[in-house]
Amino acid sequence: MMRLVQIAIALCALAATAEAVAPIGVNYGRLGDNLPPPAEVVQMFQQNGITKMRLFDPDVNVLNALRNSKIGVALGVRNQDLQLMSTNMDAVKGWFAANIEPFLNDVAFEFIVVGNELVPGELANFILPVMQNFQAVLDGRKLDNISVTTCVATSVFGNSYPPSASVFADNSREVMIKILGFLAYTQNPLLINLYPYFAYASDPVNVRLDYAQFTAPGVVVQDGPLGYQNMLDAMIDAFFWAMEKVGVNNVGLVVSETGWPSAGNGNFTSPTLASTYNKNFAKRITTKNGTPKKPDAVIPGFIFAMFNENQKPAGVEQNFGLFLPTTKQPVYPVFPL
Ligand SMILES: *[C@@H]1O[C@H](CO)[C@@H](O)[C@H](O)[C@H]1NC(C)=O
Ligand SMILES: *[C@@H]1O[C@H](CO)[C@@H](O)[C@H](O)[C@H]1NC(C)=O
Repeated sequence: MMRLVQIAIALCALAATAEAVAPIGVNYGRLGDNLPPPAEVVQMFQQNGITKMRLFDPDVNVLNALRNSKIGVALGVRNQDLQLMSTNMDAVKGWFAANIEPFLNDVAFEFIVVGNELVPGELANFILPVMQNFQAVLDGRKLDNISVTTCVATSVFGNSYPPSASVFADNSREVMIKILGFLAYTQNPLLINLYPYFAYASDPVNVRLDYAQFTAPGVVVQDGPLGYQNMLDAMIDAFFWAMEKVGVNNVGLVVSETGWPSAGNGNFTSPTLASTYNKNFAKRITTKNGTPKKPDAVIPGFIFAMFNENQKPAGVEQNFGLFLPTTKQPVYPVFPL
């Protein structure tokens, strides 16, 4: 035991000296009627060196295609399923039996993501009981390599600027405290969706494009002793600050969505802008992790999204894809890194 502890300490010391790096994945949204078959999509992930995939909901064809791919999978539980699952253990066991159990031996599940962007909202109070129910199923099966978590957006904040002033909104604080308490106990990270694009597009006069795109030559936002050269770091640190203010210091973060549309909003959107944002995000995640507030944090990330999706609302929403669904060609180059 002592030996193990010593080795662990030595490894930590070693890790602290190197710059932390984290893996990057891509969201496989499937709201399109012209998407390639799942087996081809899995091949595209592999050919492009994309080692992690987030799925918004379980689909047997996709899960079958993922068998033996070694791609790490974050699998979503649909928002509309949460209410029933919060009180009905059989519904949770049924979901597990249908979507995890048959694939356990050859699909590398990493996360079960209970709901997407539900705080604040009518369904927010169902998140924690469903997380607890899934944890009970996993504990019963002694599966400690799958993390149960949820995914929230910046809508949880009452204030988020500057990052050190960040707090959860009154209508989110209580539920966030409960969810974070559970994540602290299970030692699993919170998933956060962050879109500097929307912050820029909604206020281009005050938000600098280079700050949103990781291209600013120096510090743009000075927050006490902490200097921010890009908005994504500020958004991540807003979460660290808001968590700290409710007494949570040990829950990690994963950027479960970020991206930039290649079309749909005049000159705020272009393949060049999208390419710049996503390449820099990928570089940020895979080579220089940590933030001004938490330099040692290791924060994995997922780009949104694999394909342009023609069944989403018209405009920018249809144009977040890295690839064209019909030809499988890149809209602009990002991968392989
Ligand atoms: C997780 O653990 C289960 C049970 O031990 C195993 O079958 C599965 O291959 C493991 N998954 C990964 C990704 O290591
Ligand atoms: C968009 O066009 C306006 C007007 O020509 C210009 O001021 C602005 O810098 C352009 N923005 C981008 C992102 O190219």
